[in-house]
Amino acid sequence: MINAFTYLDDQLHAERVPARVLAEQYGTPLYIYSRAALTDAYQSYADACIGHRAKIYFAVKANSNLAVLSVFARLGAGFDIVSGGELARVLAAGGKPSDVVFSGVGKSAAEMRSTLDIGGRCFNVESLAELAQLNQVAGESGQIAPISLRVNPDVDAKTHQYISTGLKETKFGIAFDDARAAYRAALDMKYLRITGIDCHIGSQITEISPYLNALEKILELVVQIESDGVLIHHIDVGGGLGIRYDNEIPPDIGTFVKTILDYFDRRGHGHREIWFEPGRSLVGNAGILLTRVEYLKPGAAKNFAIVDAAMNDLVRPAMYDAYHAVDAVMPRNDQPLVTYDIVGPVCESGDWLARDRPLVLEAGDLLAIRSAGAYGFAISSNYNSRPRAAELLVDGDRVHVARRRETLAQLTDGEFALPPDGIK
Ligand code: LLP
Repeated sequence: MINAFTYLDDQLHAERVPARVLAEQYGTPLYIYSRAALTDAYQSYADACIGHRAKIYFAVKANSNLAVLSVFARLGAGFDIVSGGELARVLAAGGKPSDVVFSGVGKSAAEMRSTLDIGGRCFNVESLAELAQLNQVAGESGQIAPISLRVNPDVDAKTHQYISTGLKETKFGIAFDDARAAYRAALDMKYLRITGIDCHIGSQITEISPYLNALEKILELVVQIESDGVLIHHIDVGGGLGIRYDNEIPPDIGTFVKTILDYFDRRGHGHREIWFEPGRSLVGNAGILLTRVEYLKPGAAKNFAIVDAAMNDLVRPAMYDAYHAVDAVMPRNDQPLVTYDIVGPVCESGDWLARDRPLVLEAGDLLAIRSAGAYGFAISSNYNSRPRAAELLVDGDRVHVARRRETLAQLTDGEFALPPDGIK
């Protein structure tokens, strides 16, 4: 995987553009994505799939910016969506409707209808109640819904509990022991067409063994289901491959994909289509968040660097205790290192971006928060009435504004104070 954010002449660059220039021109906090890094990550998946019937569906939730989606659409990716909003984004970015897979535990009838209307590829159904609802919606709109059942294989993905989804204690998927009966039930539903099976066991997974444990169980089920007369055309192995934030050593994308495809071949299932739904591993290290130091606040217990980005811009540290590497855009090597907590202006003790980082800093310095391309802007909010950051996509020495910085007017758009004469 290429690193598109490197130092040239002692200054951090995004591909060939100095990060400092972008901060001056577009302001901070500022998300910057590298087209080369996005392309390289996608290509690693695609190359490892050559010679197999395999397809990559980008998990839109990780980064739903139109520019990012359009990069993947042009590369031929499919899209894994979890809402009608994500569907609208995929279509606006030029994604093919027939390459859209709809995941998620709570699809509404309206979302089902709009995905059916555009000819989506598959619904990953997560409960018997949802099966019944989809059957009804499809019947009412005179269509047949292609489905797979998301099975919860009850395996430990060995990751943070908030991003572990394949244990039976989580809300996700149909319990392994109930799955065969659920397929039988689906077989009797007139407006559904079973096409596959899927699972997703978690995110930021840094070992391949949890996948193989899950797939072992899925294959056991596939054999049973087919003996009941259902044809399983595809197996969707979900997303979840981890990236390097700190000192993790996840398998590289090619090794991960090849190991899984080889596994299916060895087990005699190589004739099926294999689908992947990666999010983080496609975008995580293709993005940084630039922020400027507002104030330094030395203290007896801690030194704080208060920056202009906050938990509303990047919530991962506050939410998952996540580590993001932080580097000075123009490092100063002339003074001793001081250990800082990097914190934002939001009024919450949980508003921190990094802890105990040795840096040489002065007010006004620019910092790059690395590995911010996945679940960064996508989970950002307006908390503390902070306009959301701008997003750029850099391609060589060219810069594309992927999203303008939000304005104060946008913050209150659609809100109404009480009129002076009260509610009418
Ligand atoms: N497919 C399904 C059904 C999912 O639920 C997810 C992620 C993915 C694919 C993509 O997984 P990935 O390849 O990105 O690991 N906000 C958290 C991560 C939440 C993941 C939710 N599901 C974080 O910032 O770490």
